[in-house]
Amino acid sequence: MPAIVVLGAQWGDEGKGKATDLLATSDPIDYVVRTSGGHNAGHTIVIDGEKFATHLLPSGILTPGATSVIANGVVVSPEALFEELDALLERGVEIGGLVVSANAHVIASYHGVVDKVSERFLGKNKIGTTGRGIGPAYADKINRVGIRVADLFDEGILREKVDAALEVRNQLLTKVYNRRGVEAEAVVEELLSYAERLRPMVADTSLLLNRALDEGCTVLFEGAQATMLDVDHGTYPFVTSSNPIAGGVCTGAGVGPTRIDRVIGVIKAYTTRVGSGPFPTELFDDDGERLQRIGGEIGVSTGRTRRCGWYDAVVARYSARVNGLTEFFLTKLDVLDHWDRIPVCVAYEIDGVRHDEMPMTQTEFHHARPVYEFFDGWGGDISGCRSFADLPKNAQVYVHALEEMSGAKFWGVGVGPGREQTLVVHP
Ligand code: GDP
Ligand code: IMO
Ligand code: MG
Repeated sequence: MPAIVVLGAQWGDEGKGKATDLLATSDPIDYVVRTSGGHNAGHTIVIDGEKFATHLLPSGILTPGATSVIANGVVVSPEALFEELDALLERGVEIGGLVVSANAHVIASYHGVVDKVSERFLGKNKIGTTGRGIGPAYADKINRVGIRVADLFDEGILREKVDAALEVRNQLLTKVYNRRGVEAEAVVEELLSYAERLRPMVADTSLLLNRALDEGCTVLFEGAQATMLDVDHGTYPFVTSSNPIAGGVCTGAGVGPTRIDRVIGVIKAYTTRVGSGPFPTELFDDDGERLQRIGGEIGVSTGRTRRCGWYDAVVARYSARVNGLTEFFLTKLDVLDHWDRIPVCVAYEIDGVRHDEMPMTQTEFHHARPVYEFFDGWGGDISGCRSFADLPKNAQVYVHALEEMSGAKFWGVGVGPGREQTLVVHP
């Protein structure tokens, strides 16, 4: 039985929440798993016209019968976790099981402080992070001074680890950033205050998921962030601090690559990006403003306006390659209803040379100019279409052309935010 990965193929906010929700409701899914990132994610799900947003929790938390898992590769802010859970409970959402890995690293309040001051310190070179402490928490993990969920249940060890983590951090905060240091005891108290509520949720999630797969359960790995934000394969340094690509699912969940059956890349019919960094098809004209407005391109987590541009098939092919995509899920086709002529970037021109694939260096990528092909619009509202054959001819041509140039088949197409607004291209 399948292990399915759903991930972002561009710079995030492609509609992963919707794709996950759709998969989880069309076939019975036993587990929905987050494997990287933290509450920097913002996934929107619209059920019967009602809108939900998840951040640290997988979108599967809204699927009756599915168990949600926060696996070892995620960085967990206990404060954000309980805030999110409580907000859902307050709305009367019936929440299934939630399991958190004992090995997941913890985001404490000082990680958020460091995130914000280091961004300020970078000035015009800032990354434009979500300010959630994601980078500093992963930095501590790699520096081997991180706090893990299991540490919250041993006060002595927790105290030792917090002391070790703050030793260098406080030097940096006081001597480099000119800030007040963080008091270790306050951090210990803060983390201990979550221990009791967290304890029953904590397990060895790698063991749990591998056993579930052995027993024939269906496991859906819900990606956060996206391929072009991957710390290894994205537009470094303008990236997040984790591996949101398909390979990151294996390290982030403790599940081997041979167990994965499908890898679905979610991709918008145009492109958006939040935060700093290169973006070859970005628009600074009226079209960009219209994509932003019609597409409702405002960040779910930070409320920031998303930068907008046309579909970039070079990015799509790159994503298909580094993730080994078995298929794409194309979202927001309906947003393009309003254009008579739709440009698609098929290659880059870099210093007078055509590049059909992602250039080798970031410097080249910063200089990439899009080479466009143009498609005729379909001049009508497609949000009511319920099968691919219902789409106007030009919309079908557009989808097939993108599929042809993007490096993997298109499984489905979104024509609106609702569950029902999805057309299957290849069942
Ligand atoms: P995620 O982070 O990848 O889960 O995506 P976000 O939730 O941040 O942003 C995607 C936005 O697009 C949300 O507001 C979704 O409700 C919306 N959305 C998803 N699919 C479609 C679609 O096919 N058409 C339209 N118009 N909106 C969509
Ligand atoms: P979802 O899962 C879009 C971006 C931030 C910033 C960079 C680093 O909703 O697609 P971080 O706080 O992670 O250190 O910020 O990554 N970023 C996202 N952009 N969607 C996201 O998540 C993102 N998560 C992080 O804007 O540019
Ligand atoms: Mg999002």
